[in-house]
Amino acid sequence: MFNEIQDNNCYKNLLNGKWVTSDSEKTISIKSPIDDKEVGNIQAMTKEEVDIAVLDAKNAYPIWADKSVSERADVIHKAASILEENADEIAEILAKEIAKDIKSAKSEVIRTVDFMRFTADEGKRIQGETLQGDGFHGFSKNKIAFVTREPLGVVLAISPFNYPVNLSASKIAPALMAGNSVVFKPPTQGSISALHLARVFQEAGLPDGVLNTITGKGSEIGDYIITNPNINLINFTGSSEVGKHISEITSMVPMIMELGGKDAAIVLEDAELDHAATNIVKGAFSYSGQRCTALKRVLVLENIADELVELIVEQVSKLQVGNPFDNATITPLINNKAANFVQELIDDALNKNATLKIGNKREKNLLYPTVFDNVTTDMRIAWEEPFGPVLPIIRVKSIDEAVDIANDSEYGLQSSIFTNDIDDAFHIARLLEVGTVQINNKTERGPDHFPFLGVKSSGMGTQGIRYSIEAMSRPKAIVVNLRERSDKVTDK
Ligand code: NAP
Ligand code: G3H
Repeated sequence: MFNEIQDNNCYKNLLNGKWVTSDSEKTISIKSPIDDKEVGNIQAMTKEEVDIAVLDAKNAYPIWADKSVSERADVIHKAASILEENADEIAEILAKEIAKDIKSAKSEVIRTVDFMRFTADEGKRIQGETLQGDGFHGFSKNKIAFVTREPLGVVLAISPFNYPVNLSASKIAPALMAGNSVVFKPPTQGSISALHLARVFQEAGLPDGVLNTITGKGSEIGDYIITNPNINLINFTGSSEVGKHISEITSMVPMIMELGGKDAAIVLEDAELDHAATNIVKGAFSYSGQRCTALKRVLVLENIADELVELIVEQVSKLQVGNPFDNATITPLINNKAANFVQELIDDALNKNATLKIGNKREKNLLYPTVFDNVTTDMRIAWEEPFGPVLPIIRVKSIDEAVDIANDSEYGLQSSIFTNDIDDAFHIARLLEVGTVQINNKTERGPDHFPFLGVKSSGMGTQGIRYSIEAMSRPKAIVVNLRERSDKVTDK
């Protein structure tokens, strides 16, 4: 089923129901971060083609918006089944393209299947309401609002490299369920996996033009896409830097943004330290720390710090490093530039006398898992998001100090608290300036029907299946004003 999306490993774009190459005749070579071998080529689309993609979506929108919710749900359900049938093939491409270990690549695809099914079902349950006017003085019960939910129009979905299937489908499926058409800009590294996802939606029977793809480097065509006047909502996941840039150069376009994070694990004196260490290591190092929700710092009370640090280091020493197809947890980072950035943060910590407990070893873009103890707040690693396998441990004297450092961050995605005292847990949770607090667990997005949001530089708007459908639709009120009756209607 994927034959028509490429010729000789050169991938095309889906425009108005057809897979086409770009008039630019320029392609971008996608190389695997594992061994630098070419995975395929994608099209560098022109500005004119961007305009065509958006116009196709605009023209197709009324046809899709007019479909019944159950017809839309049927298409999403069918797409979920097609994705499931092709899960192994897509997971393999994903593992090659972004160096995600094959087990996690497969679970990304299967999680997406579940996501799409839940979205199709949840979309059917979203209903409008009727409101009566007499709750306000001067209005009567004869004024009645019929409130329905309407789609927005053309949704622009932009996803990041680290979940090119899941974080693309988590925008596209709810947008479609709400009745919107979609223009989809996948991450350049991740495009090939994402184009397979687009083909899945097409194969499921999406009418031509309802989903269109745009490939090309964000740095070259990104600004042009996001300022297209026919875009009615931007749903973006990626770095805070690009997110802020998008919000600066657009005007009056609603946005949902999932951005960077610096999630903290706060470990209290009464925590079960084995459990905390296991969660911290999984949270910090899965997919080499390239997750927005990765644990990116530990704030631990001084008198349990030695024990916790030893437990963490012991588990980190057992992490498998190497090839995603051997199921290593620590795999090559997405590119050398990313590895250089992580190395900069490591070098800064070393120069400022953090205690290196393990790691700081590198083979090209493969960085070994690195743990620093005695990190202090003058070090970059205390504040910056590495998006790589390095974990700073900051020792604190009190819970108040832990909360202050946790909150003194430009980010506010999630936090973890490890403790056996539910009162302390709730008290601290209320103080933390984040979208979600996990008690006795690593930070993580799922399950995907929970609300997912970041505050401060970590994002705006709320995702999560029902929240996403609502965020990509709007209420519309039709108000009926019944005439006052002088004659009384009485029950017989
Ligand atoms: P990124 O560099 O910001 O890129 C994200 C997406 O934006 C890519 O598709 C990219 O295209 C595109 N883009 C770049 N410049 C653009 C522009 N001027 N206009 C429009 N689009 C543009 O992020 P990334 O490196 O892929 O992902 C890592 C970051 O994402 C981390 O900071 C991570 O925390 C964050 N993230 C957050 C969440 C969350 O839910 N909060 C989830 C996952 C990741 P190209 O690939 O072509 O450059
Ligand atoms: O990278 C950001 C993803 O939304 C994180 O999802 O917590 O399931 O890895 P995850």
